[in-house]
Amino acid sequence: MLDHLLGGALVIDKDYNIIFANKVLRDVCGLKGEEVEGKKCHELSHLCPLPCGSESLSFKCPHKEVFSTAGPVTATLIHYCCIAEKERIIDITASPVMDEKGEVREMIEILRDVTEKERQRKKLEEREAFIESVLDGIGDGVVVVDRDFKIISANRGYCNQAKLNRDVIIGRHCYEVSHHWPKPCFEMGERCSAKEVFETGNSHRIIHTHFNKEAHTLHIETISYPLKDASGNVIASIEVLGDISEKIALENELEKKLKELEELNNVLILAFVNAIDAKSPWTKGHSERVANYAAAIAGELGLGEADIQILRTAALLHDVGKIGTYDVILDKSGKLTDDEFSLIRMHPAKGEEILRPIKQLACILPIIRSHHERIDGRGYPDGLKGNEIPLLSRVLCVADSFDSTTADRPYRPSTGKEYAINELRRCSGTQFDPKIVGAFLKVLEGEVYGEESWSSRG
Ligand SMILES: [Fe+2]
Repeated sequence: MLDHLLGGALVIDKDYNIIFANKVLRDVCGLKGEEVEGKKCHELSHLCPLPCGSESLSFKCPHKEVFSTAGPVTATLIHYCCIAEKERIIDITASPVMDEKGEVREMIEILRDVTEKERQRKKLEEREAFIESVLDGIGDGVVVVDRDFKIISANRGYCNQAKLNRDVIIGRHCYEVSHHWPKPCFEMGERCSAKEVFETGNSHRIIHTHFNKEAHTLHIETISYPLKDASGNVIASIEVLGDISEKIALENELEKKLKELEELNNVLILAFVNAIDAKSPWTKGHSERVANYAAAIAGELGLGEADIQILRTAALLHDVGKIGTYDVILDKSGKLTDDEFSLIRMHPAKGEEILRPIKQLACILPIIRSHHERIDGRGYPDGLKGNEIPLLSRVLCVADSFDSTTADRPYRPSTGKEYAINELRRCSGTQFDPKIVGAFLKVLEGEVYGEESWSSRG
């Protein structure tokens, strides 16, 4: 009967003598029945003169255990055998054969050659260990999540992020470990990159917040990749989780500093504007009104927000060059002499000169320099014509002239809105760019600018 087994079978007595070896075993050993029987099992299996159960040897011996316990050894034991001068790995299942008195008379060993299987298993283990060490070498967290959102693999980086040991993480839902939530992210109203991967089969990237064991918030950038089987079905999601908390904190800090700088910038500009306004009670509020008119015209012309902002700053500072002009000239009620007028005409270039050291204001210098140029080339300081004059200077020129005409001046009272509009029309094409005059008239007609600013003008 034992000859018909697919594996090897041995019957061994109490003294390690082989009483019987089945055909499979005889064939494997290349021995005939009489050559096997009578040999000691340890001589045959290990080419060893001592029984495996000897204290001096480290082999686990089913023989010794079966005879000492009088029970079957149900555990599968692996021996390294030197049968036919080949090292093989053998699974052994040993059972006692009892005599009529109930004592162990012999032992039957069923042997199965698992050498190849073991080699494959060892290779697989080595491969897994290699992959694990590679993943552990990555600073980012890496987890593999199955379709039930359970974590089936986690690298050291992820354990460090979560501040948990790997054995606590494996088998748990990713949303429990990463978010401390009882339900998946998408049921908590959050985006879930793993779900996207399962639904689309494509990689997906999101930035969201995680919580570690100590409930500290982490800003995590997650990129999820699909893990597909041979048929192309997505069986898991590989998630690479980068902790960008420090980067986010730095960005927030930078944003805060930037805001502070912008505020400082605005305050400094305001200080300049106040200094300009303080030169003469007649020009109080002029710069700010001109800035508002100019921005409204730019909006009507369809200019972008960045250009409008530049224009606003230029309008606020357009008369900064008057700081260097004598107050007596600015406040003179009578007609200016040619010399006085030539001093006044220096203020656009002077303004450019004053602001030149501030490199952040470099973009407004040409606007300020040319805000008194005329389309017909009769303006100052450079006598530029038409499109030679920067567009924003042409806008500023219209807004500036309109406010100057409607404001009280030391040499005349306010001439009113109607007069100012007529002046714009009259000088369109000579002093002013007609396109810009048209835009401003639309602004005024459509009351885009509002009645409030008119009433405040008195
Ligand atoms: Fe001016």
